[in-house]
Amino acid sequence: MQIINETDMWNCVTLDEVMHAIEDAYEIHRTGKYLMPDRFIAGRDKNLMLYMPCFLDSVIGTKMLAEFPDNPGKGLPYLNGLMILNDSQTGLPRAIMNGSTLTAMRTGAVGGVAIRYLAAEDCNSVGLVGCGVQGLHQLIYACAVRPITDIYLFDSFVKDLSPFISRLSEKLNKPAISIHTCSSSRELAENSQILISATQASDPVYPDDAELLRGKCIIAIGSWRPERRELPDAVWKLTKYAYTELSYACEETGDLLIPLKNGILKTEQIRYMEDLIRDTKEGRPHEQNETRCFKSVGMGIFDARVAQLICENAEKKGIGQNIAW
Ligand SMILES: NC(=O)c1ccc[n+]([C@@H]2O[C@H](COP(=O)([O-])OP(=O)(O)OC[C@H]3O[C@@H](n4cnc5c(N)ncnc54)[C@H](O)[C@@H]3O)[C@@H](O)[C@H]2O)c1
Repeated sequence: MQIINETDMWNCVTLDEVMHAIEDAYEIHRTGKYLMPDRFIAGRDKNLMLYMPCFLDSVIGTKMLAEFPDNPGKGLPYLNGLMILNDSQTGLPRAIMNGSTLTAMRTGAVGGVAIRYLAAEDCNSVGLVGCGVQGLHQLIYACAVRPITDIYLFDSFVKDLSPFISRLSEKLNKPAISIHTCSSSRELAENSQILISATQASDPVYPDDAELLRGKCIIAIGSWRPERRELPDAVWKLTKYAYTELSYACEETGDLLIPLKNGILKTEQIRYMEDLIRDTKEGRPHEQNETRCFKSVGMGIFDARVAQLICENAEKKGIGQNIAW
């Protein structure tokens, strides 16, 4: 069995391979060849353990997340994750890896795939609202799929973005890309063709201003609870469709649930990324408005499929720590 830590995980895959695995995961979901039981949550006081199993034909992946609210006060991450991969035929354990790294890696790739299918080929500017873990990885993949020359950053709570900028510059290793900080999300949106949000916001992170958002490719990654939202109503006045991963997203995130309830967004406008990918590949691109939007809530198939890629590459390349079971 392999034990694969954060550094080894990044060393054994390319960004393109991870995005390919995400496209594969969408196809697995489209064809129904999986079993994804509801996640099981066990809690004691305010501390939660979340267990998320997902059966594919090839592997079984179980992501465990520990959500401990007092951790930030102790200088520890709020969320910590572990991914366990078992063989689908025998149930034997194949790998254990860092679940937080896996989440950031696969969520970044989900954003990258959405940009690949929704944004104009020549987009060269991207704005990020919410400069945290997911945001960093969203930018890494955005820069891999479009010829980005300028990145704009805004965060309501983190006033000194220099540590984030240092981490981003190191990960991107593209000195030609200019990184700018903004004093508001309006300033960010005025300058960026692609808008990414990765926050826990309760209220929309952009002004409800159709002229500001017109023509943008909008990727919303955060705020997955029903009472939370990142997107203002103006987005749905500009886009023909709302792309997401699965129908459950309409119940899980306020970004879809609230405008659907208020009649701003119609059920007929909900479209799935898996269909956009398949239709585009088969030469039937969706007829769309200039403004486009993808709302992500994530799904266990992404974790299982990307973990499988990491495990197989680690085995082939002899990366990670092999332990006798
Ligand atoms: N779609 C998915 O598959 C997926 C996967 C993992 C995490 N998430 C979600 O992504 C979000 C971000 O997660 P993270 O791990 O990066 O958290 P994080 O705490 O590392 O980063 C979030 C950042 O957003 C900033 N922020 C919060 N509210 C804001 C606002 N209103 N305007 C501007 N900035 C704001 C915070 O200051 C913080 O810097 C969470 O909601 C999380 O649940 C989604």
